[in-house]
Amino acid sequence: MRELYRGWPDQLIKALENWNKVELDVDPRTIVICGMGGSGIVGDYARAIAYSKGFDKPIIVVKDYTLPSFVNENDLVIVISYSGSTIETIKCFEEAIKRKCRTYIIASNGILEERASETSTPFLKVSKGLVPRVALPEMLVTLIGILNKVKEIMSKDEAFKCSVFIKENMKAIENRAKYIAEQLYAKIPIILTYEKYAPLAWRIKNELNENAKIPSKVEILPEWGHHDIVGWENPISPGIWHGLLVKDPEDINTSKLIDFANYLLSEKGVRSTSMELRGDNFFEKIIYGSLLAGFTSISLADLYGVDPLVTQSIAKYKGVIKSILS
Ligand code: PA5
Repeated sequence: MRELYRGWPDQLIKALENWNKVELDVDPRTIVICGMGGSGIVGDYARAIAYSKGFDKPIIVVKDYTLPSFVNENDLVIVISYSGSTIETIKCFEEAIKRKCRTYIIASNGILEERASETSTPFLKVSKGLVPRVALPEMLVTLIGILNKVKEIMSKDEAFKCSVFIKENMKAIENRAKYIAEQLYAKIPIILTYEKYAPLAWRIKNELNENAKIPSKVEILPEWGHHDIVGWENPISPGIWHGLLVKDPEDINTSKLIDFANYLLSEKGVRSTSMELRGDNFFEKIIYGSLLAGFTSISLADLYGVDPLVTQSIAKYKGVIKSILS
């Protein structure tokens, strides 16, 4: 699986082939992006990137099996599922078709690929043979290609530049990941960051859950200072936790707030490790942070002696939700 993560620089470039296939002759009122798990987070990332570039339309991310009530033929609904067979995402697609929305599908395969040809829905294919969570760069850049048709948020040059940046830093990222994994071993991580990087914090949690098979907790500043902070007045087993501080060193105020959270946790006996984000822009920083998280979760899986690839519990859950919804 480590090798698949090493393929990220190539994924960033490969996805650009999909940009040439995107056609959009409407100006949607709202963009609705539906997906679950490793595919769902792609919507969160795309929304954060779009707004960092001044995108001027609402983007709604749906991680559910039903669309918000207001969605209608004025909206663009993009469904993303790496496997193409996730029931919640298929349900959203069916609903979008019923409501006559403009639709797009991103998948590698599966039922959604079949539904695309049956319903003449534009289909953007991503490479087969990956794992959903590892296919993040290819799905994300493909999705950005659709958003670019509404308003340009990223150029091909930026994707190329990010690919080179990641390639050049691969070894350093893997080494740092190994160090972070050693700090997190036998602990429950508390992933702490600022609102701007909330999607990355959730992604880190998902990677630790799925690859290392451990639970973890996400706390986002400034909201953290309005509730979770009080929970530490009566800490239960502080030694079990380990803070993972996701910081953008260029963002001074944010770093100060995270330092305060760290100070408070350390007073309660909770040690922390920093995950500093590198890169020239927001896109590079979240790709860098996501790759660091990916390798950290793989190194942690090695320490625990578990297979990062297999997600038995998700398969079990998918069986249950399928029987409930069908
Ligand atoms: O990363 C994973 O394997 C999961 O979180 C999946 O992404 C999730 O179960 C949804 O599946 P898919 O991405 O195929 O729609």
